[in-house]
Amino acid sequence: MQNVKVITVASGKGGTGKTTTTANLGIALAELNKQTIILDADIAMANLALLLGMEKIDVTLHEVLSGEKNIKEAIYEGPKGVMVVPCGISLAGFQRSHPERLQEVLMDLLDEAEFLLIDAPAGLGKDSIIPMAIADEILLVLNPEVSSVSDGLKIKIMADTIETNVRGIILNRVRKRKGEIDRDKIEKIFNLKVLAEIPEDTSVIDSVAKRRPVLLTKPNSSAAIAYKRLAADLVGQKFEYKKETVIKRFISSIFGR
Ligand SMILES: Nc1ncnc2c1ncn2[C@@H]1O[C@H](COP(=O)(O)OP(=O)(O)OP(=O)(O)O)[C@@H](O)[C@H]1O
Ligand SMILES: [Mg+2]
Repeated sequence: MQNVKVITVASGKGGTGKTTTTANLGIALAELNKQTIILDADIAMANLALLLGMEKIDVTLHEVLSGEKNIKEAIYEGPKGVMVVPCGISLAGFQRSHPERLQEVLMDLLDEAEFLLIDAPAGLGKDSIIPMAIADEILLVLNPEVSSVSDGLKIKIMADTIETNVRGIILNRVRKRKGEIDRDKIEKIFNLKVLAEIPEDTSVIDSVAKRRPVLLTKPNSSAAIAYKRLAADLVGQKFEYKKETVIKRFISSIFGR
């Protein structure tokens, strides 16, 4: 049996970039030939499938957490071979879901992948604490501004309380403008390493409109490169930037991987 590493992508404040990170980091890990599952645990406000352009999905985490289906029926193949467990978007599905079943249902995924990335809801409600509590590690997504940092601190305190290790910080939407809280300050405040700085990048915003993660729409953009570098670091590989040519993208869009 493989030993899957469960990494929960969390933040205190909403909208910091958890779903963007889960999707792009997951694809970047798959590109490094690591079997990777990305799972949308934002059971009230799911949008990972939306970001991946995955439509018409019958079985989702909602049906699994309600006890109607097995999680293996909710795994779909996503871009570059990343496996995706989406979550439904209906209110009824959310109401039927029991988030406390998450740990139990994830047991069936232990031998399915090397990495399981969980996109958690923002905040400190039950729905967000459970994905943090069952993880081996947390990646904390922050923006370089006061409210994101102060809400992020609460996540760090909660992680310490539930004894889940925070591996480090993803500092997202960095513009290097005056007034931003910089990397050094954040590392001091949290006593954690900033594992990646993801620049503010209009390619990310454009990719949402296209419903394909930026790693696919603009693989040479600064945000995409930052995610590829983070993936290489997580698996202990040296990152070597190779510009993706149009021909390579054409071949990969026809033949998949
Ligand atoms: N590096 C970036 N550059 C520009 N825009 C970004 C970047 N990262 C994220 N965004 C934009 O910020 C918005 C929020 O991102 P995302 O949905 O990933 O955040 P989230 O933390 O998952 O939010 P929620 O808490 O609502 O689940 C999206 O519109 C996304 O396109
Ligand atoms: Mg999200």
